[in-house]
Amino acid sequence: MSYKNDFPMFARFKKEKKPLVYLDSASTAQMPQCVIDAVREFEETTRANVHRGIYELSERATECYEGARERVRKFVNARRAREIVFTRNTTESINLVAYSLTKTFFKKGDHILISRGEHHSNFLPWQMIAKEKGIILDILELNKEGEIAIEAVKKALHPKTRLAAFSHISHVLGTINPIEKIRKTLRKRNILFLVDAAQSAGHIPIDVQKIGCDFLAFSGHKMGAPMGIGVLYGREEIVHTMEPFLRGGGMIRKVDITNTEWDELPYKFEAGTPNVSGAIGLEAAINYITSIGFKEIRAIDEKLTKRAFAQLKKIPGIHIFGPEDPRTRGGVISFTIEGIHPVRSSIHFQQDSSHRGRLRRITSNWVHPHDLATILDREGIAIRAGHHCAMPLMKYLGVPAVSRISFWVYNSVSDIEVLGRGIEKALRILA
Ligand SMILES: Cc1ncc(COP(=O)(O)O)c(C=O)c1O
Repeated sequence: MSYKNDFPMFARFKKEKKPLVYLDSASTAQMPQCVIDAVREFEETTRANVHRGIYELSERATECYEGARERVRKFVNARRAREIVFTRNTTESINLVAYSLTKTFFKKGDHILISRGEHHSNFLPWQMIAKEKGIILDILELNKEGEIAIEAVKKALHPKTRLAAFSHISHVLGTINPIEKIRKTLRKRNILFLVDAAQSAGHIPIDVQKIGCDFLAFSGHKMGAPMGIGVLYGREEIVHTMEPFLRGGGMIRKVDITNTEWDELPYKFEAGTPNVSGAIGLEAAINYITSIGFKEIRAIDEKLTKRAFAQLKKIPGIHIFGPEDPRTRGGVISFTIEGIHPVRSSIHFQQDSSHRGRLRRITSNWVHPHDLATILDREGIAIRAGHHCAMPLMKYLGVPAVSRISFWVYNSVSDIEVLGRGIEKALRILA
């Protein structure tokens, strides 16, 4: 079954009369009509500020907003709706946790563990508080498949490790990390666990109780919802002790000249007017995803991953990162092409002897991912090229940039075939 017709973008956008082949859903997924309709319906019939007015419209808007929170609660199987905080995106959710824990939880000399594969959003907030507070940021190296191995986690833990933060699915390597096993290891030592679910939320089921994580972050725009709405799940026992991240309207119980009492959860973390229509859109996106079912979404990711590997492997000089078995990865594939054609843009990677990664020196006959993406764009094929906000990982892989394709429910085998032909054409041009 094809879901392409659910997404108006594919009927509306043409690149010089060529249909759009959108292979960048790991960055932002397209939005189905039902989400667009839900947002529009809210704006046309229910728009008002929430939790503030005592008039009917505001009460209806509040009901919709809180209804969306309840829908998210059910989606991630949180115990209580107050454990769901609406944010702008994954980045804000992780910054919130890092900032708030710094105020009350971390002490100088504590350790935080993350992996080399993290997106900068799950890297920089920890790096910043480490510098500011005298915390030690430990970096776990990935195994040769690009995964976080349990044994490596055990080895990397320090008696003073207080928190570990890992992605659920790698946005570069596609690997699905064993987060439930990681949680078991961490629990024995009472270590807080944050899961970056930016790449998993629209692709595999999430159950925060089963994972047993303390925090989980994701973005609506990667799962068919509007941009600017994100979620932080925070286990109540932890978040109720945390300081607010932003301060202002909508998050207080009482303010006088010298003192303020914060509102209850989750409102103390939602200062200012929230993105209400975004939350309504997220609810609609969750309903859309649920109507398809994760079994089907997973089957699409696996089928396309298998097909893409078969197609890409035909290209001489290609190097595909991460494991090949589609059952062990999400719908994200990164690759480089080297050694077949003289290229226009040659980038030389300076080998850094200070770390132990699998560095490979890039030769001058390397197809720069930006060149490839630019030529593919002319064919109506949208792929992502660059360091993918994962510069420490790029260093480990020995490349300054990679090309990345990623799928969602609207993609088909024919998209992969068009991509294959597009790459062949690009390589002819670059030669
Ligand atoms: C694994 C991962 N974490 C965090 C982010 C940041 O997401 P956002 O830009 O929506 O905050 C991304 C975005 O690509 C991601 O892939």
